Amino acid sequence: MCLGPLIRVCYTLPCQCHRLHKMAAESLTSIKSSDDNIQIVNQLLLPHTTEWLEIDTIEQAHDAIKTMKIRGAPAIASLAALSVSQHLTRALRAADPPPEFLSSPESLAAHVSTILDFLFTARPTAVNLGAATRRLSRTLQSSVKAGKDVRAIAEDLIGDGRLVAAEDVGRNKAMAKWGGDWLAEQVKGGGGSGDGLNVLTVCNTGSLATSGYGTALGLITYLHETGKLGRAYYTQTAPYHQGSRLTALELKTLQIPSTMIVDTMVGSLFQHHRIHAVAVGADRIAANGDTANKIGTYNAAVLAARHNIPFIVVAPVTTVDLDVADGSGIPIEHRPPLEACVVRGALYPPSVDAQGNRAQAAVMITPEGLDGIYNPSFDVTPAELITAIVTEKGVAVKGSDGKFDLSNVV
Ligand code: MRU
Repeated sequence: MCLGPLIRVCYTLPCQCHRLHKMAAESLTSIKSSDDNIQIVNQLLLPHTTEWLEIDTIEQAHDAIKTMKIRGAPAIASLAALSVSQHLTRALRAADPPPEFLSSPESLAAHVSTILDFLFTARPTAVNLGAATRRLSRTLQSSVKAGKDVRAIAEDLIGDGRLVAAEDVGRNKAMAKWGGDWLAEQVKGGGGSGDGLNVLTVCNTGSLATSGYGTALGLITYLHETGKLGRAYYTQTAPYHQGSRLTALELKTLQIPSTMIVDTMVGSLFQHHRIHAVAVGADRIAANGDTANKIGTYNAAVLAARHNIPFIVVAPVTTVDLDVADGSGIPIEHRPPLEACVVRGALYPPSVDAQGNRAQAAVMITPEGLDGIYNPSFDVTPAELITAIVTEKGVAVKGSDGKFDLSNVV
């Protein structure tokens, strides 16, 4: 069903609009889960192929995160937490014989701790994954300490794992509203008059990167829904092309006016077009506001500062890591060098389906056997280049000392 014309018509019909937006957004789901079933959309194959993968084990969840079949800081945390819920739900149902680790609270605690440690290793930079595994670890400890039996401890963990995923959408909508209203207020000409706000984003931070709605892309969606957006701009985001593959798909599905640029065009865009703000997500925000996000974010921040364009980071509280003082303490993931040599990343060499089709063949864009390839997945934007940090709790700007105080937004 084509939603495009209906969505345009319904701008004057708020109720219908909400319903149709919901339908469009649902088609962009990264994870479907009910009871003990989990499916993820294989983000390596989007936008041309929509393949749903069953996740049945902790190992499959770990692999899906590591190989970026699912990606985006909140989405990987949700999958990790849901996979723990699934594992324990199935264990409680496995009657004859029940798994050995259900024999006592101690053995359950040891088993779950091993699983959480393993999931934590899937990707190093996004702190949301660690926040989710730490949260489940705390639930485990307090249930054991409360003297609960094995079943009750497992049920607490199952419930909490599901909550990690379920809570994401509401907080995304909250931060989108905080950030969108704040930006419209800051920028003269935004907020209903003039041509609306033009906002550049990097990578993909929408429904596919979260449990729904998105962070920076949520802010853009909110501006669109409230009639304050002029146009969204987004970088292709090499080498994984989260922008041209995923953000493009999301903006197109939601019928949000948008323009893609190649990563190297940010400076040119700022020179030749009125851009009111840059809004990006984050994988980890240090206590001083330094922010790790997709490679290329720092370039955009430097250019935004040069052009006096507000640079906004939009991320949930779980992305703020107060244990890390500044960006130098954020671990930066380096992806396999080969992923920078191909279009379609991890699918090289291409997978072959049962019929022998190589439909998703990766294309090599370098000579074979290059020995010098630098492929960090993230960079760190220093706090001095960031205008505002938005979480579900509100908007933090720098004080008169030029420093962020994140205590009000965590
Ligand atoms: O390597 P990825 O695709 O997982 O990187 C994603 C990003 O950098 C996002 O900007 C970040 O995780 C925030 S997603 C709401």
